[in-house]
Amino acid sequence: MTGTEPAAHEIDTTRPHPARVYDWFLGGKDNYPVDERLGRQIAAIVDQGAPRAARANRAFMRRATRALAEESGIRQFLDIGTGIPTEPNLHQIAQSVAPDARVVYVDNDPIVLAHAGALLRGTPEGVTEYVQADARDPHTILEQAARVLDFDRPVALSLIALLHFIADEDGARDLVATLVDALAPGSCLVLSTMTADFEPENVRKGIDAYAAGGVTLVARSQAEVGVFFEGLDLLAPGIVSVADWRPDRAPDTGAPVSLYGAVGHKRAS
Ligand SMILES: C[S@@+](CC[C@H](N)C(=O)[O-])C[C@H]1O[C@@H](n2cnc3c(N)ncnc32)[C@H](O)[C@@H]1O
Repeated sequence: MTGTEPAAHEIDTTRPHPARVYDWFLGGKDNYPVDERLGRQIAAIVDQGAPRAARANRAFMRRATRALAEESGIRQFLDIGTGIPTEPNLHQIAQSVAPDARVVYVDNDPIVLAHAGALLRGTPEGVTEYVQADARDPHTILEQAARVLDFDRPVALSLIALLHFIADEDGARDLVATLVDALAPGSCLVLSTMTADFEPENVRKGIDAYAAGGVTLVARSQAEVGVFFEGLDLLAPGIVSVADWRPDRAPDTGAPVSLYGAVGHKRAS
């Protein structure tokens, strides 16, 4: 399903890409000078705020995935907007709880495809697959994922740090509704997305810096994030900063992490 490796010319090194800027925040090596430049500019808005937020977001992914595998018994995972592999990846968390877990990763950036090999090294009992597709085309994603996942059984759908790259006018609400509609009862939606609720000034500066680099970012209020969970039951503690979603260590004393995170459960209708 991975298709062919992307041709070198498909990786545009003349302008920053979200997956590569995020990789730079996380201390990765799969980024280019143009990504580092924007990363440094954003990290300087609040001293190291963006790298800290990226780490808090990864930790949210790990805690939410583990909770769904351990407590909800979910064995199938569909992760859209996967990003450049960063250990531990989602399948490593899920398969450490349930070696037979089946995981489908989706991203639309050729740099992620180029590194997808690292996402495909799972347990012998489980399955991991990579699909190159755009989140704004949920029907294609569902069709491709159905080769690996059984949509009559619960699936954890994760859209982690993805939706702030997709405006509502660009179909964010519709794509979430289409994907959630396709899930069986017992499935869950895991989501994190940027907000300006905690630090409006600084977040505005970050949005402006991304916009100058040609990347559109959308900040959403808690109520706007709640719209994605309509018809689902929010698991405790609800929609909170990713750092406050079931933390497994004492909170640090830094600035608030401007990403909301939440998990919703689809009940039987
Ligand atoms: C900030 S990274 C998040 C990576 C990972 N989910 C995490 O939270 O650690 C956002 C990812 O979303 C991907 N992305 C952005 N827009 C997308 C779209 N329309 N379709 C698919 N992937 C998209 C980017 O390529 C990037 O890899």
